[in-house]
Amino acid sequence: MDTGGKGFTAQPTAAEEAATRLRPFSMMQSLAITARLWRNRQIASPRFRSFLARLPLLRMIGNRKANKLFRLTTGFVHTQILSACIHLGIFEALDGKALSTTALATQCGVSADTLGQLLAQAERLDLVIHGAPDLWMLSDTGTVLAVDRGLREMIRHHDMLYRDIADAGAFWRGDRGQGELHRYWAYVRRGDLAAIENAAVAPYSALMRESQAMLADCILASHDFGQYRSVLDIGGGEGAFLCALAERHRSTELALFDLPAVTELAGRHLDGRGLTARCRLHPGDFATDVIPTGHDCVTLVRILCDHDDDRVLTILRNLHRHLEPGTRLIIAEAMAGDSEGAKLAAIYFTTYFAAMGSGRCRTASEIAGLLARSGFRNFEAVTSVNPLLVGLVIATR
Ligand SMILES: C[S@@+](CC[C@H](N)C(=O)[O-])C[C@H]1O[C@@H](n2cnc3c(N)ncnc32)[C@H](O)[C@@H]1O
Repeated sequence: MDTGGKGFTAQPTAAEEAATRLRPFSMMQSLAITARLWRNRQIASPRFRSFLARLPLLRMIGNRKANKLFRLTTGFVHTQILSACIHLGIFEALDGKALSTTALATQCGVSADTLGQLLAQAERLDLVIHGAPDLWMLSDTGTVLAVDRGLREMIRHHDMLYRDIADAGAFWRGDRGQGELHRYWAYVRRGDLAAIENAAVAPYSALMRESQAMLADCILASHDFGQYRSVLDIGGGEGAFLCALAERHRSTELALFDLPAVTELAGRHLDGRGLTARCRLHPGDFATDVIPTGHDCVTLVRILCDHDDDRVLTILRNLHRHLEPGTRLIIAEAMAGDSEGAKLAAIYFTTYFAAMGSGRCRTASEIAGLLARSGFRNFEAVTSVNPLLVGLVIATR
Protein backbone atom coordinates (compact mmCIF):
# COMPACT_ATOMS: atom_id res chain seq x y z
CA MET A 1 0.00 0.00 0.00
CA ASP A 2 1.42 3.38 -0.97
CA THR A 3 0.51 6.03 1.55
CA GLY A 4 1.07 8.70 -1.07
CA GLY A 5 4.00 10.07 0.88
CA LYS A 6 1.93 10.71 3.98
CA GLY A 7 4.72 9.27 6.11
CA PHE A 8 5.11 6.20 8.25
CA THR A 9 2.35 6.98 10.71
CA ALA A 10 -0.36 6.31 8.11
CA GLN A 11 -3.57 4.94 9.61
CA PRO A 12 -4.88 1.43 8.80
CA THR A 13 -7.50 1.29 6.06
CA ALA A 14 -10.99 0.01 6.73
CA ALA A 15 -10.08 -3.27 4.95
CA GLU A 16 -7.04 -3.78 7.16
CA GLU A 17 -9.05 -3.10 10.29
CA ALA A 18 -11.65 -5.58 9.08
CA ALA A 19 -8.89 -8.17 8.46
CA THR A 20 -7.66 -7.87 12.04
CA ARG A 21 -11.20 -8.33 13.31
CA LEU A 22 -11.60 -11.64 11.48
CA ARG A 23 -12.27 -14.60 13.73
CA PRO A 24 -11.40 -17.21 14.86
CA PHE A 25 -7.86 -16.05 15.66
CA SER A 26 -5.98 -16.59 18.88
CA MET A 27 -4.80 -13.46 20.71
CA MET A 28 -1.25 -14.15 19.53
CA GLN A 29 -2.36 -14.49 15.92
CA SER A 30 -4.37 -11.25 16.10
CA LEU A 31 -1.36 -9.45 17.53
CA ALA A 32 0.92 -10.90 14.84
CA ILE A 33 -1.52 -9.83 12.08
CA THR A 34 -1.87 -6.32 13.50
CA ALA A 35 1.93 -6.00 13.81
CA ARG A 36 2.47 -7.25 10.24
CA LEU A 37 -0.15 -4.83 8.83
CA TRP A 38 1.52 -1.96 10.73
CA ARG A 39 4.94 -3.00 9.45
CA ASN A 40 3.67 -3.29 5.87
CA ARG A 41 2.16 0.22 6.09
CA GLN A 42 5.54 1.60 7.14
CA ILE A 43 7.43 -0.22 4.37
CA ALA A 44 4.86 0.94 1.81
CA SER A 45 5.65 4.55 2.70
CA PRO A 46 8.33 6.21 0.48
CA ARG A 47 9.13 8.59 3.37
CA PHE A 48 9.80 5.67 5.72
CA ARG A 49 12.04 3.99 3.15
CA SER A 50 14.10 7.14 2.62
CA PHE A 51 14.36 7.48 6.43
CA LEU A 52 15.72 3.90 6.58
CA ALA A 53 18.23 4.67 3.85
CA ARG A 54 19.82 7.33 6.09
CA LEU A 55 20.61 4.80 8.90
CA PRO A 56 23.60 2.55 8.02
CA LEU A 57 22.38 -0.69 9.67
CA LEU A 58 18.82 -0.39 8.40
CA ARG A 59 20.12 0.65 4.97
CA MET A 60 22.13 -2.58 4.87
CA ILE A 61 19.04 -4.66 5.71
CA GLY A 62 16.98 -2.73 3.14
CA ASN A 63 19.61 -3.20 0.44
CA ARG A 64 19.79 -6.92 1.19
CA LYS A 65 16.02 -7.19 0.72
CA ALA A 66 16.20 -5.13 -2.49
CA ASN A 67 18.93 -7.45 -3.84
CA LYS A 68 16.77 -10.45 -2.97
CA LEU A 69 13.82 -8.97 -4.85
CA PHE A 70 16.04 -8.13 -7.82
CA ARG A 71 17.47 -11.68 -7.85
CA LEU A 72 13.91 -12.99 -7.90
CA THR A 73 12.92 -10.59 -10.67
CA THR A 74 15.89 -11.51 -12.86
CA GLY A 75 16.13 -15.22 -12.02
CA PHE A 76 15.22 -16.25 -15.54
CA VAL A 77 18.19 -14.32 -16.92
CA HIS A 78 20.45 -16.33 -14.56
CA THR A 79 18.78 -19.54 -15.72
CA GLN A 80 19.39 -18.65 -19.35
CA ILE A 81 23.09 -17.94 -18.73
CA LEU A 82 23.41 -21.38 -17.15
CA SER A 83 21.43 -22.90 -20.00
CA ALA A 84 23.63 -21.22 -22.65
CA CYS A 85 26.78 -22.59 -20.94
CA ILE A 86 25.24 -26.09 -21.02
CA HIS A 87 24.12 -25.84 -24.65
CA LEU A 88 27.56 -24.56 -25.76
CA GLY A 89 29.37 -27.32 -23.84
CA ILE A 90 31.44 -24.91 -21.71
CA PHE A 91 31.53 -27.13 -18.61
CA GLU A 92 32.71 -30.21 -20.52
CA ALA A 93 35.27 -28.12 -22.42
CA LEU A 94 36.77 -26.78 -19.18
CA ASP A 95 36.68 -30.11 -17.33
CA GLY A 96 40.19 -30.63 -15.92
CA LYS A 97 41.62 -27.70 -17.95
CA ALA A 98 42.28 -23.97 -18.00
CA LEU A 99 41.58 -22.37 -21.40
CA SER A 100 41.80 -18.91 -22.96
CA THR A 101 38.67 -17.26 -24.39
CA THR A 102 39.88 -17.92 -27.95
CA ALA A 103 40.64 -21.61 -27.33
CA LEU A 104 37.26 -22.07 -25.64
CA ALA A 105 35.47 -20.17 -28.43
CA THR A 106 37.01 -22.51 -31.03
CA GLN A 107 35.86 -25.58 -29.07
CA CYS A 108 32.34 -24.23 -28.53
CA GLY A 109 31.93 -22.89 -32.07
CA VAL A 110 31.15 -19.24 -31.19
CA SER A 111 32.98 -15.98 -31.71
CA ALA A 112 35.53 -15.06 -29.04
CA ASP A 113 33.77 -11.69 -28.48
CA THR A 114 30.38 -13.22 -27.73
CA LEU A 115 31.87 -15.98 -25.62
CA GLY A 116 33.88 -13.43 -23.61
CA GLN A 117 30.62 -11.70 -22.64
CA LEU A 118 28.93 -14.97 -21.70
CA LEU A 119 31.96 -16.08 -19.64
CA ALA A 120 31.94 -12.77 -17.77
CA GLN A 121 28.26 -13.40 -16.94
CA ALA A 122 29.05 -17.00 -15.91
CA GLU A 123 31.82 -15.69 -13.66
CA ARG A 124 29.36 -13.31 -11.96
CA LEU A 125 27.15 -16.33 -11.26
CA ASP A 126 30.14 -18.30 -9.90
CA LEU A 127 30.02 -20.95 -12.64
CA VAL A 128 33.56 -20.23 -13.88
CA ILE A 129 36.55 -18.38 -12.44
CA HIS A 130 39.64 -16.63 -13.76
CA GLY A 131 42.82 -18.70 -13.08
CA ALA A 132 44.90 -15.84 -14.59
CA PRO A 133 44.06 -12.96 -16.97
CA ASP A 134 42.14 -14.48 -19.91
CA LEU A 135 42.44 -18.00 -18.53
CA TRP A 136 39.15 -19.64 -17.60
CA MET A 137 38.64 -22.48 -15.13
CA LEU A 138 35.66 -24.12 -13.46
CA SER A 139 34.36 -23.00 -10.05
CA ASP A 140 33.08 -25.64 -7.56
CA THR A 141 29.59 -25.41 -9.08
CA GLY A 142 31.00 -25.56 -12.63
CA THR A 143 32.96 -28.69 -11.71
CA VAL A 144 29.81 -30.45 -10.47
CA LEU A 145 28.06 -29.50 -13.72
CA ALA A 146 31.00 -30.81 -15.75
CA VAL A 147 31.06 -34.23 -14.11
CA ASP A 148 27.33 -34.83 -13.69
CA ARG A 149 25.77 -35.52 -17.07
CA GLY A 150 22.39 -36.18 -15.42
CA LEU A 151 22.33 -32.67 -13.98
CA ARG A 152 23.17 -31.19 -17.39
CA GLU A 153 20.40 -33.28 -19.00
CA MET A 154 17.89 -32.11 -16.37
CA ILE A 155 18.82 -28.50 -17.14
CA ARG A 156 18.49 -29.12 -20.88
CA HIS A 157 15.02 -30.64 -20.52
CA HIS A 158 13.89 -27.52 -18.63
CA ASP A 159 13.59 -25.84 -22.03
CA MET A 160 10.25 -27.68 -22.25
CA LEU A 161 9.17 -26.56 -18.79
CA TYR A 162 9.91 -22.90 -19.56
CA ARG A 163 7.97 -23.04 -22.81
CA ASP A 164 5.04 -24.59 -20.92
CA ILE A 165 4.95 -21.86 -18.28
CA ALA A 166 5.94 -18.90 -20.48
CA ASP A 167 2.49 -17.31 -20.19
CA ALA A 168 2.56 -17.26 -16.39
CA GLY A 169 -0.90 -15.71 -15.96
CA ALA A 170 -2.60 -18.25 -18.23
CA PHE A 171 -0.61 -21.06 -16.64
CA TRP A 172 -1.72 -20.32 -13.08
CA ARG A 173 -5.29 -19.54 -14.17
CA GLY A 174 -5.33 -22.98 -15.80
CA ASP A 175 -6.21 -21.36 -19.17
CA ARG A 176 -3.91 -23.43 -21.33
CA GLY A 177 -3.96 -26.77 -23.01
CA GLN A 178 -1.65 -29.65 -22.28
CA GLY A 179 1.95 -28.72 -22.82
CA GLU A 180 5.22 -30.35 -23.82
CA LEU A 181 5.93 -31.99 -20.45
CA HIS A 182 2.56 -33.69 -20.55
CA ARG A 183 3.51 -35.25 -23.88
CA TYR A 184 7.07 -36.05 -22.75
CA TRP A 185 5.99 -38.15 -19.73
CA ALA A 186 4.01 -40.67 -21.79
CA TYR A 187 2.52 -42.57 -18.82
CA VAL A 188 0.76 -39.45 -17.53
CA ARG A 189 -1.58 -39.66 -20.54
CA ARG A 190 -2.77 -43.06 -19.20
CA GLY A 191 -4.88 -45.16 -21.60
CA ASP A 192 -3.37 -48.55 -22.42
CA LEU A 193 0.00 -48.25 -20.65
CA ALA A 194 1.12 -51.73 -21.70
CA ALA A 195 0.90 -50.58 -25.33
CA ILE A 196 3.18 -47.54 -24.94
CA GLU A 197 5.99 -47.91 -27.43
CA ASN A 198 9.71 -47.80 -26.94
CA ALA A 199 10.06 -44.43 -28.72
CA ALA A 200 7.63 -42.82 -26.25
CA VAL A 201 9.47 -44.00 -23.12
CA ALA A 202 13.10 -43.83 -24.31
CA PRO A 203 13.66 -40.04 -23.80
CA TYR A 204 12.29 -39.89 -20.23
CA SER A 205 13.91 -43.23 -19.32
CA ALA A 206 17.33 -41.95 -20.44
CA LEU A 207 16.83 -38.74 -18.42
CA MET A 208 15.87 -40.77 -15.33
CA ARG A 209 18.86 -43.10 -15.77
CA GLU A 210 21.30 -40.19 -16.11
CA SER A 211 19.85 -38.14 -13.26
CA GLN A 212 19.72 -41.06 -10.83
CA ALA A 213 23.42 -40.98 -9.80
CA MET A 214 23.22 -38.18 -7.25
CA LEU A 215 19.82 -39.31 -6.01
CA ALA A 216 20.87 -42.95 -5.52
CA ASP A 217 23.93 -41.88 -3.51
CA CYS A 218 21.70 -39.81 -1.27
CA ILE A 219 19.09 -42.58 -0.77
CA LEU A 220 21.71 -45.26 -0.11
CA ALA A 221 23.51 -43.01 2.38
CA SER A 222 20.25 -42.32 4.24
CA HIS A 223 19.02 -45.87 4.82
CA ASP A 224 20.78 -49.22 5.31
CA PHE A 225 19.68 -51.38 2.39
CA GLY A 226 22.25 -54.01 3.42
CA GLN A 227 19.67 -55.37 5.89
CA TYR A 228 17.47 -56.68 3.03
CA ARG A 229 17.81 -60.02 1.27
CA SER A 230 15.96 -58.90 -1.87
CA VAL A 231 14.89 -55.48 -3.19
CA LEU A 232 12.15 -54.95 -5.78
CA ASP A 233 12.26 -51.47 -7.37
CA ILE A 234 8.77 -50.66 -8.66
CA GLY A 235 8.76 -48.13 -11.52
CA GLY A 236 12.51 -48.73 -11.54
CA GLY A 237 13.12 -47.27 -15.01
CA GLU A 238 16.28 -48.59 -16.67
CA GLY A 239 17.58 -49.87 -13.32
CA ALA A 240 20.02 -47.09 -12.42
CA PHE A 241 19.01 -47.15 -8.75
CA LEU A 242 19.40 -50.94 -8.57
CA CYS A 243 22.84 -50.70 -10.25
CA ALA A 244 23.99 -48.27 -7.54
CA LEU A 245 22.48 -50.52 -4.82
CA ALA A 246 24.13 -53.61 -6.35
CA GLU A 247 27.53 -51.96 -6.20
CA ARG A 248 27.17 -51.13 -2.52
CA HIS A 249 25.46 -54.34 -1.34
CA ARG A 250 26.97 -57.18 -3.32
CA SER A 251 24.78 -60.02 -2.03
CA THR A 252 21.34 -58.35 -2.28
CA GLU A 253 19.01 -59.94 -4.85
CA LEU A 254 17.44 -57.45 -7.27
CA ALA A 255 14.17 -57.17 -9.19
CA LEU A 256 12.65 -54.39 -11.27
CA PHE A 257 9.03 -53.73 -12.23
CA ASP A 258 8.07 -51.19 -14.93
CA LEU A 259 6.04 -50.79 -18.11
CA PRO A 260 6.92 -53.40 -20.78
CA ALA A 261 8.68 -50.88 -23.07
CA VAL A 262 10.80 -49.66 -20.12
CA THR A 263 11.77 -53.11 -18.82
CA GLU A 264 13.08 -53.80 -22.33
CA LEU A 265 15.40 -50.79 -22.00
CA ALA A 266 16.28 -51.89 -18.44
CA GLY A 267 17.31 -55.29 -19.81
CA ARG A 268 19.85 -53.63 -22.10
CA HIS A 269 21.17 -51.30 -19.39
CA LEU A 270 21.55 -54.03 -16.77
CA ASP A 271 23.21 -56.27 -19.36
CA GLY A 272 25.76 -53.51 -20.04
CA ARG A 273 26.46 -53.36 -16.30
CA GLY A 274 26.89 -57.15 -16.02
CA LEU A 275 23.80 -57.48 -13.81
CA THR A 276 21.48 -59.57 -16.00
CA ALA A 277 21.86 -62.70 -13.89
CA ARG A 278 21.34 -60.82 -10.63
CA CYS A 279 18.20 -58.84 -11.52
CA ARG A 280 14.78 -60.20 -12.49
CA LEU A 281 12.62 -58.03 -14.74
CA HIS A 282 8.83 -57.79 -14.37
CA PRO A 283 6.94 -55.92 -17.09
CA GLY A 284 3.51 -54.66 -16.06
CA ASP A 285 1.24 -51.87 -14.80
CA PHE A 286 1.81 -51.17 -11.11
CA ALA A 287 -1.72 -49.83 -10.68
CA THR A 288 -3.53 -52.95 -11.88
CA ASP A 289 -1.24 -55.96 -12.34
CA VAL A 290 -0.01 -58.58 -9.89
CA ILE A 291 3.07 -57.34 -8.01
CA PRO A 292 5.71 -60.06 -7.63
CA THR A 293 6.33 -61.32 -4.09
CA GLY A 294 9.39 -62.84 -2.38
CA HIS A 295 11.14 -59.50 -1.66
CA ASP A 296 11.59 -58.18 1.87
CA CYS A 297 11.97 -54.62 0.56
CA VAL A 298 10.05 -52.75 -2.14
CA THR A 299 11.07 -49.29 -3.31
CA LEU A 300 9.13 -46.51 -5.06
CA VAL A 301 11.72 -43.96 -6.19
CA ARG A 302 10.27 -40.77 -7.76
CA ILE A 303 6.94 -42.55 -8.34
CA LEU A 304 4.15 -41.26 -6.06
CA CYS A 305 5.06 -37.60 -6.68
CA ASP A 306 4.11 -38.07 -10.36
CA HIS A 307 0.49 -38.77 -9.52
CA ASP A 308 -2.56 -37.11 -7.99
CA ASP A 309 -3.92 -38.48 -4.69
CA ASP A 310 -6.60 -40.74 -6.20
CA ARG A 311 -4.09 -42.40 -8.53
CA VAL A 312 -1.57 -42.79 -5.66
CA LEU A 313 -4.26 -44.58 -3.64
CA THR A 314 -4.95 -46.93 -6.56
CA ILE A 315 -1.22 -47.72 -6.89
CA LEU A 316 -0.65 -48.22 -3.14
CA ARG A 317 -3.78 -50.34 -2.72
CA ASN A 318 -2.64 -52.58 -5.58
CA LEU A 319 0.74 -52.98 -3.87
CA HIS A 320 -0.95 -53.68 -0.54
CA ARG A 321 -3.17 -56.32 -2.18
CA HIS A 322 -0.17 -58.29 -3.49
CA LEU A 323 2.76 -57.75 -1.11
CA GLU A 324 3.36 -60.18 1.74
CA PRO A 325 2.74 -58.94 5.31
CA GLY A 326 5.97 -57.63 6.81
CA THR A 327 7.40 -56.34 3.50
CA ARG A 328 9.15 -52.99 3.94
CA LEU A 329 7.97 -50.29 1.52
CA ILE A 330 10.32 -47.35 0.96
CA ILE A 331 9.10 -44.16 -0.71
CA ALA A 332 11.99 -41.95 -1.89
CA GLU A 333 11.29 -38.67 -3.68
CA ALA A 334 11.56 -34.91 -3.29
CA MET A 335 9.38 -33.88 -0.34
CA ALA A 336 8.04 -30.56 0.88
CA GLY A 337 9.21 -29.48 4.34
CA ASP A 338 10.70 -26.73 6.43
CA SER A 339 14.40 -26.99 5.50
CA GLU A 340 15.73 -24.65 2.82
CA GLY A 341 16.33 -27.61 0.48
CA ALA A 342 12.81 -28.99 0.96
CA LYS A 343 11.31 -25.53 0.33
CA LEU A 344 13.32 -25.15 -2.88
CA ALA A 345 12.23 -28.63 -3.98
CA ALA A 346 8.57 -27.82 -3.27
CA ILE A 347 8.69 -24.54 -5.24
CA TYR A 348 10.24 -26.27 -8.23
CA PHE A 349 8.23 -29.50 -8.25
CA THR A 350 4.86 -27.86 -7.56
CA THR A 351 5.32 -25.84 -10.75
CA TYR A 352 6.80 -28.78 -12.65
CA PHE A 353 3.90 -31.13 -11.80
CA ALA A 354 1.36 -28.43 -12.65
CA ALA A 355 3.01 -28.14 -16.09
CA MET A 356 3.08 -31.92 -16.44
CA GLY A 357 -0.64 -32.05 -15.58
CA SER A 358 -0.22 -34.66 -12.83
CA GLY A 359 1.43 -35.14 -9.46
CA ARG A 360 2.23 -33.27 -6.24
CA CYS A 361 5.24 -32.53 -4.09
CA ARG A 362 4.00 -33.83 -0.71
CA THR A 363 5.24 -33.62 2.86
CA ALA A 364 6.32 -36.86 4.57
CA SER A 365 3.16 -36.77 6.68
CA GLU A 366 0.93 -36.38 3.61
CA ILE A 367 2.61 -39.47 2.13
CA ALA A 368 2.17 -41.36 5.42
CA GLY A 369 -1.53 -40.40 5.31
CA LEU A 370 -1.92 -41.94 1.83
CA LEU A 371 -0.03 -45.06 2.97
CA ALA A 372 -2.31 -45.38 6.00
CA ARG A 373 -5.44 -45.09 3.81
CA SER A 374 -4.02 -47.92 1.67
CA GLY A 375 -3.51 -50.26 4.65
CA PHE A 376 0.24 -49.82 5.33
CA ARG A 377 1.48 -49.28 8.91
CA ASN A 378 4.55 -48.41 11.06
CA PHE A 379 5.54 -45.18 9.29
CA GLU A 380 8.92 -43.62 9.68
CA ALA A 381 9.99 -40.37 7.99
CA VAL A 382 13.74 -40.26 7.35
CA THR A 383 15.41 -36.94 6.63
CA SER A 384 17.94 -37.75 3.93
CA VAL A 385 21.50 -36.46 3.79
CA ASN A 386 20.23 -33.88 1.26
CA PRO A 387 16.57 -32.80 1.67
CA LEU A 388 16.79 -30.81 -1.58
CA LEU A 389 17.08 -34.06 -3.51
CA VAL A 390 15.03 -36.57 -1.62
CA GLY A 391 13.17 -37.53 1.54
CA LEU A 392 12.28 -41.05 2.65
CA VAL A 393 9.12 -42.51 4.14
CA ILE A 394 9.35 -46.13 5.28
CA ALA A 395 6.29 -48.27 5.99
CA THR A 396 5.41 -51.93 6.54
CA ARG A 397 2.83 -53.97 4.62
C1 LIG B 1 9.73 -40.54 -12.82
S1 LIG B 1 10.13 -42.10 -13.44
C2 LIG B 1 11.17 -42.74 -12.13
C3 LIG B 1 12.09 -43.83 -12.59
C4 LIG B 1 13.03 -44.35 -11.52
N1 LIG B 1 12.35 -44.85 -10.36
C5 LIG B 1 14.00 -43.25 -11.12
O1 LIG B 1 13.82 -42.62 -10.07
O2 LIG B 1 14.93 -42.99 -11.89
C6 LIG B 1 8.63 -43.02 -13.22
C7 LIG B 1 8.72 -44.48 -13.67
O3 LIG B 1 7.46 -45.11 -13.41
C8 LIG B 1 7.13 -45.90 -14.52
N2 LIG B 1 5.67 -46.05 -14.58
C9 LIG B 1 4.74 -45.08 -14.76
N3 LIG B 1 3.51 -45.58 -14.75
C10 LIG B 1 3.65 -46.93 -14.57
C11 LIG B 1 2.73 -47.99 -14.44
N4 LIG B 1 1.42 -47.77 -14.49
N5 LIG B 1 3.22 -49.22 -14.23
C12 LIG B 1 4.56 -49.45 -14.16
N6 LIG B 1 5.49 -48.48 -14.25
C13 LIG B 1 5.04 -47.22 -14.45
C14 LIG B 1 7.68 -45.13 -15.70
O4 LIG B 1 7.82 -45.93 -16.85
C15 LIG B 1 9.00 -44.62 -15.14
O5 LIG B 1 10.03 -45.52 -15.36
